[in-house]
Amino acid sequence: MGRFYVTTPIFYVNDAPHIGHAYNALSADAFARWHRLCGDDTWFLTGTDEHGLKVMRAAEERGVTPQAHADAYSQRFRDAWAQLGLSNDDFIRTTEDRHIASVQAMLQRIYDNGWIYRDTYEGFYNVSDEAYVTEGEFTQEDLDSGRVMHMKEDNYFFKLSAFADRLLEWYEREPDAIKPAVRRNEAAGIVKQGLRDISITRTSIDWGVPVPWDDAHVFYVWYDALINYATAVGYGADAERFATWWPATTHLIGKDILRFHCVYWPAMLMAADIAPLPRFGVHGWLLVGGEKMSKSKLTGIAPAHLIEDFGVDGFRYCLLRDNPFGPDSEFSYEGVVSRYNTDLANNLGNLLSRVATVVEKKCGGIGPAPSPDSPLAPLVAGALDTIVAAWADLQPSVALEATFRLIRDANSHLEDHEPWRKDPGPEVDVVMGDALEILRIVSLLATPAIPTTCAEVWRRIGLAGAPTDHTVPAAAAWGGYPGGLAVERGAPLFPRIKA
Ligand code: MSP
Repeated sequence: MGRFYVTTPIFYVNDAPHIGHAYNALSADAFARWHRLCGDDTWFLTGTDEHGLKVMRAAEERGVTPQAHADAYSQRFRDAWAQLGLSNDDFIRTTEDRHIASVQAMLQRIYDNGWIYRDTYEGFYNVSDEAYVTEGEFTQEDLDSGRVMHMKEDNYFFKLSAFADRLLEWYEREPDAIKPAVRRNEAAGIVKQGLRDISITRTSIDWGVPVPWDDAHVFYVWYDALINYATAVGYGADAERFATWWPATTHLIGKDILRFHCVYWPAMLMAADIAPLPRFGVHGWLLVGGEKMSKSKLTGIAPAHLIEDFGVDGFRYCLLRDNPFGPDSEFSYEGVVSRYNTDLANNLGNLLSRVATVVEKKCGGIGPAPSPDSPLAPLVAGALDTIVAAWADLQPSVALEATFRLIRDANSHLEDHEPWRKDPGPEVDVVMGDALEILRIVSLLATPAIPTTCAEVWRRIGLAGAPTDHTVPAAAAWGGYPGGLAVERGAPLFPRIKA
């Protein structure tokens, strides 16, 4: 049994949660649930990123203080994540005292270690990305609109350039630290192109964490933000807790924030003498009409909207199953309808209703036990190997595909034997026991994606407690359904949706 600490990026409070954000958070939730199911000690963190110029401007536009703005928008994320059934253990806000103390502790350590120096920064800053940019990376229109601005400031700089060799050595030594491999190569490419030292403080704004050794400065928002991952597990406050969780860290991020996470953050950790370095899972974007979904382009779809049509589990399943973790993928409403109808309404829904109906009619409502030498048993063993490997490889869509293939196999098995025919004879018990066993196994294995549904299937087939009382893969081995349990026929779990 192991330990697993998983994080989402912290979300900017200038935007309302959309399903692009939800894709990241839901993936983190599924990994957390999978690890808990495997018996691992698990900690799942999400939260909001509340400092910086972008948030200050958003607050000004609304005519409220940055703190009042952050309070309201942070709550939106909290509510949206609760609505999606996310099982986060903590929700961090960068305006909390615990975080401010931890940012100051880590950066003071880096300063004391001699990796921070004072200089003048002159150049351009992209406010919507909260990132320093060079000429060629923006247009005149960006300047005119205020999205990009020219700056000249006395700043503190982090000696990023001193870490190039150590970063390259780390990418080489731990090829699995950044997945998929194409993203590790991208990070290595950034380092090989040459790293410049970066400005990490600001004097022209005060909406940030004060620099402990010079109170005329606040930290640049990204340096404050990245440290949230350490704050939440006790950095600077509880050394024992930090030592417990830190070695088990996996950060899930979108590809747009790779440079900050896979280059700057590891360098900062090295500069603060923090080891080991975390692992990263990098995903692509959900696209709408070929473009990254966003509020400003009016393509930001709220999760609540889809939950209304597909239910929480329906939405969770379709998002995780249809968008492989890694590449970009096009999101469409029609795609969700089709996936929902095929896998949930027809495949899973059908198996459950067939089993409940036949058990009621031909077995007196009592589910029989599976046969030890069922032809389905080896299929389960093979699927389990695939599923365990897929979760470990950060591929929920592959794990779910293999899980749902078992349901298809069980449906075909029923169709081959037709236990619903007029005189099925004693064979009916064997066939129904096998199908019930598949329902039990799938209720365990699909729990990370559709937790409420799995608990309900578990209950309907007569099992006590919940799938989450058990540990996989052991509990998902063939033969666990005891038989002799009352099976309940209930309303369809996933009513078919008209396309
Ligand atoms: N605040 C920073 C992260 C700091 S982490 C120390 C930030 N916030 S964000 O709200 O703009 O984005 C948060 C995450 O949402 C990023 O991983 C980003 O890639 C992801 N997504 C935003 N839109 C997305 C899609 N359309 N599709 C998939 N993920 C997307 O960046």
